[in-house]
Amino acid sequence: MVVDVERTMENYRDAGNLKTRVGLFRFRRDDFDPVEFAAGLLPRDLGLILDVGAGYGRYTRRLRADRPEATVVAVDKAPGMLAEVPEPAMTADAQAIPYPDGGVDGLLALHMLYHVPDVAAAVAEFRRVLQTGGTLLVATNAADDMDALYVLWRKAIATLPEADRYDPRGPLPHFDSANAPALLKARFDTVEVFADTGPVSVPEPEPLIAYLRSARSLMDCTDAVYEASMLAAERLLAEHFASHTTFDFTKRLVFYRCR
Ligand SMILES: C[S@@+](CC[C@H](N)C(=O)[O-])C[C@H]1O[C@@H](n2cnc3c(N)ncnc32)[C@H](O)[C@@H]1O
Repeated sequence: MVVDVERTMENYRDAGNLKTRVGLFRFRRDDFDPVEFAAGLLPRDLGLILDVGAGYGRYTRRLRADRPEATVVAVDKAPGMLAEVPEPAMTADAQAIPYPDGGVDGLLALHMLYHVPDVAAAVAEFRRVLQTGGTLLVATNAADDMDALYVLWRKAIATLPEADRYDPRGPLPHFDSANAPALLKARFDTVEVFADTGPVSVPEPEPLIAYLRSARSLMDCTDAVYEASMLAAERLLAEHFASHTTFDFTKRLVFYRCR
């Protein structure tokens, strides 16, 4: 699927949609925290770290708190996402990072490469700005991440005319566990894989509907079609909650540490 940059930037006009999506994981049944996990994967001796696709800065903040000796720069293509991130922060595209060759010690690209039209170009750019021996940390979803929720959404969409046109996973398969290793290995000698799988039990339909709605601008369909799919999803969830106390799915993340 081709990434639609305009739709992507609309989704990230401000931090609201991302905060809604991240908020769904307050219902995880274990205490896994991806921010802590990522911080633990980065070596301690990094001077300059870029957090590319930083969003509202949840990883940037964590690293700055823990590593006062390092400079952590938040970089994002969407200026509205950086509005609440303290300096240093800059608006830039992952495919053209305004740093010299080898000028950076560590680079994060967390939950963002599936939005980049030319992933191979972005990975080449990460290699270019990283010094020899520098560390790239990437996170993305497993190909079967949150399957139960996507199965429900697919069922909702299947009730619509021309259902085949709409893929609820949107741009996510553009960079997931199925194709990420090959793309990273093309530029990095060592690619270590850290997979995490965690159960999520949501006790009411509203946070699930809010999650689906937060992806509205990524879906290439008319408002009428979208609203019909949301109504169908609400109906399916109401049926589900009539006989269950929670809606359960599995969150499957993968981190790659590359050198
Ligand atoms: C799912 S959010 C992840 C944000 C952050 N890394 C986190 O996990 O909280 C994806 C972010 O990537 C940014 N983004 C999308 N395309 C980009 C590009 N080509 N270059 C830089 N940032 C981009 C979006 O604006 C958004 O803030």
